[in-house]
Amino acid sequence: MLRTVTATRYVTPLREGGSLPAIVEADDLGTYVLKFRGAGQGRKALVAELVAGELARGLGLDVPEIVLVRLDQELGRTEPDPEIQDLLRASGGLNLALDYLPGSLGFDPLACAPEPELASRILWFDALVQNVDRSPRNTNLLVWHGKLWLIDHGASLYFHHNWPDRDGPALAAVSQRPYAAAREHVLLPFATALPEADAALSSLLTTETLRRVVDLVPGEWLRDEPGFSDPDRVRYAYVEYLSARLEAPRDWARALEDIVRESGA
Ligand SMILES: Nc1ncnc2c1ncn2[C@@H]1O[C@H](COP(=O)(O)OP(=O)(O)O)[C@@H](O)[C@H]1O
Ligand SMILES: [Mg+2]
Repeated sequence: MLRTVTATRYVTPLREGGSLPAIVEADDLGTYVLKFRGAGQGRKALVAELVAGELARGLGLDVPEIVLVRLDQELGRTEPDPEIQDLLRASGGLNLALDYLPGSLGFDPLACAPEPELASRILWFDALVQNVDRSPRNTNLLVWHGKLWLIDHGASLYFHHNWPDRDGPALAAVSQRPYAAAREHVLLPFATALPEADAALSSLLTTETLRRVVDLVPGEWLRDEPGFSDPDRVRYAYVEYLSARLEAPRDWARALEDIVRESGA
C-alpha cells in the first residue's frame, strides 16, 4: 500500500523539467516533490512514475518513497503565477509525490563514476521500462547520503500512449522492441556488467510482483481509457506487456549488450 497524504502548503515550483512539479508540505509534516495530474502528460505520467518507480524499488534500486497526494482547496491560494494556479485547478483528486531528499545533488558522471554493477542494473531497468529521461544533460539521478537515487520516471512505459494489440504474436513482437534511448543513457559508459544484471534482475520480477505494483495505481488514473472497459483491464494490460517484455530470451536485453560493447564501455 502507498500512503496517502494531503498537501497543505505549496512551497515552490521546480522549473527544471517541463512538468512544473513543486515542493509541497503535507499533513504528515513531510516535504514532497509533487507531480500534478493536471500537468502536460496528465494521469499517464503519474501511472508511469508510480509503476516504474515501484518496479525499480522491487529490483533493489533506491527510489524516494512514493505517496499519493490529495490537494487542500487552500493550496496555492496566495500563489501569484497564473500558470501554477491553472495547474492546481486542473489537479483535483489524487496526485503523486516523491519524498523530498533535502541536500541531494544532481548526479554528475564526470565527478564520480558509479560501480559497474549498479550502473548496469540501472541501465537494464531503464531499458525494461523504456525510460527516455536519463541522459547526461538530464540524468534524473540524485546523489544523497552517498547513494544514487532514481527519480522522474513519468516518460517511461510509453507503450501506454498507444496500446499494442493484445493478441499473442503482436504483443510479443512489440514488447521486445529495443531500448531506443540506450545510446544517450548517462550510465552507458559504466555499464560493463549487463549480462549479470540481466540474469539477476529478470528473475525478480515475477508476474505476482508485477501485479502487486500495478495494483497500487489508483483506479481514478485508469478510468475511461479508450479500448478498456474498466481499470482492472488496464492493470492487466500493463502486467501482460511487462511479462511479455521480461520473457526470455529478451531480444531488447541482447540488443542492449551489443550497444554497450560497441560503445567500448
Ligand atoms: N525527491 C526529490 N528530492 C530532491 N529533489 C528532487 C526530487 N525530485 C525532484 N527533485 C528536483 O526537481 C527537479 C525536477 O523534478 P523531476 O522529477 O525531474 O521533474 P521534471 O523533470 O519532469 O520537471 C529534479 O531535476 C531535481 O533537481
Ligand atoms: Mg526530470
